[in-house]
Parts: sequence; C-alpha cells; structure tokens
Amino acid sequence: MAVSGATSERTVGTSLVVLDGVNKWFGELHVLKDINLTVARGEVVVVIGPSGSGKSTLCRAINRLETVDQGTISLDGLPLPQEGKALANLRAEVGMVFQSFNLFAHKTILENVTLGPVKVRGVKPAEAEARARELLDRVGVGQQAGKYPAQLSGGQQQRVAIARALAMEPKVMLFDEPTSALDPEMIAEVLDVMVDLARRGMTMVVVTHEMGFARTAADRVLFMSDGAIVEENTPEEFFTNPRSERAKDFLGKILRH
Ligand SMILES: Nc1ncnc2c1ncn2[C@@H]1O[C@H](COP(=O)(O)OP(=O)(O)OP(=O)(O)O)[C@@H](O)[C@H]1O
Ligand SMILES: [Mg+2]
Repeated sequence: MAVSGATSERTVGTSLVVLDGVNKWFGELHVLKDINLTVARGEVVVVIGPSGSGKSTLCRAINRLETVDQGTISLDGLPLPQEGKALANLRAEVGMVFQSFNLFAHKTILENVTLGPVKVRGVKPAEAEARARELLDRVGVGQQAGKYPAQLSGGQQQRVAIARALAMEPKVMLFDEPTSALDPEMIAEVLDVMVDLARRGMTMVVVTHEMGFARTAADRVLFMSDGAIVEENTPEEFFTNPRSERAKDFLGKILRH
C-alpha cells in the first residue's frame, strides 16, 4: 500500500503513555504478559502480531475499556482513573478508532463530531461546530456534514470517526485495525489521514498490518505473540531483519498475501 508523506517535521519527546509490569488474565488465559511499554510524546508505535496475541486488549487497557490485574498504566504522569468523571475525561484524552466505525447512526456527521466536545468537554455549540467543520474538511468529508453515517462509504465513515476522536483534543490516539474492514480503494484514503496526523505530531498507537503505513509513519514496531511483546524495532529493521522465529513466521505469512 503506497502512502504519501514523510515524518521529518515531528519530534519525539517525553513519556506520555507508560505501561509498567502489566499482566491480565481472562480466566485461565494469560492475555497480557508482563508488558513494559513507554510511548513518548509525538511517537508513532505500530503493533502487529497474529490473531489472538492481545493487540486489541492492549489498546483497550490503555483506554481502560479493560482493567488489568497487575502493574500500572499511566497517561501523562498520572495513573488511569478508576471511575466517574475522571474516567470520562480520560476517554476524551485517549482517542480510539476501531475496525468498525461506531458512529451514532441517528445523528448527522456534524452531530457525531460535536456531541463529545459539547457534552463532555463543555465546549459551546457554535465553537464545537466550527471546530468540527474544520476537522471534517481536514479529513476530506466536509461536504458530508449534514448526512447520516449510512449515507457515507466505509472509508468516509472511518475518517469521520477519526475527526470525532480528534474533536476531543486527545493526548494520544489509539487505532485498532482501522482499515481492515475497508475495501482496498478506501484503505489508502484512511491511511493518508493517519500519516498526516502522525506528521502533525500526534502520539499514536496503531494496530495494523499495513506495512506501507508502518514504514512511512512508525517510529517503532512492536510484535506481539501470545500476550507478550516479543520484538520491538524500527520498521525498517523489523520488516527486513526480524529476529525471532515467531516474527519471521508471521511476516512470512502476511507477506505472501
Ligand atoms: N472479553 C473476553 N473474554 C475472554 N477472552 C477474551 C476476551 N477478549 C479477548 N479474549 C481473548 O484474549 C485473547 C486476545 O484477544 P485480543 O482481541 O486482544 O487479540 P488480538 O491480537 O486483537 O486478535 P485479532 O488480531 O484477532 O484482533 C484471545 O485469545 C481472545 O479470544
Ligand atoms: Mg484485535
């Protein structure tokens, strides 16, 4: 997949997301195994690995959609809040884009993007609308503002989902296979938006098997297998010279497709 753009304008700064000794079980299944991960401000981390290796669980833990059994996760120096308003604020600070677009079906595109800022952030409606229109233009769907999600293509809906997350002014954006439900011609338009976001300095954790995106935008690739981070490296080094047998095996499989 060809994606345009370079990342040279970005600078990678101090720690923003820190996972320290994180373990999680689903019953007997040890789904996150001693995860230690620091994501720096402005850094783009791509997470790859086989189905069931714990990639989504890792993302969901950072957003506290899942609790962890051991270890700590902190955002911008503070442990993730447990509940209440602090948790709602955390969700605003950690933008998340899923494989399925999860837009509110009975709200217009514009309403989808203004709702969070008005309800959670207390932004004035006029201000939220101006900002939403700016974001919708940025992701290339400004013309669709008055439509409903079902009237848009999958690629357009996913770009709205990105705009909706950005409207909350998150500190970090998590993407969990954002293009895997899309037709090939729509994948590039979503990846282009993500490359642009990376170039603007957004801190991003991206679960994807799109190697073009990883090579263009990622500072680091993490390879997960059976709940553990078994390898981490620059995209160049990881894709051309994977060290572990599991990574070699996995890359062999996805590169053949
Ligand atoms: N709510 C749950 N209850 C029990 N087991 C779960 C739950 N969610 C996930 N699992 C299991 O935890 C493991 C890791 O799941 P996870 O969704 O994090 O993997 P993944 O790497 O995202 O896989 P995929 O590439 O298929 O999306 C899998 O074995 C999965 O079946
Ligand atoms: Mg997953």
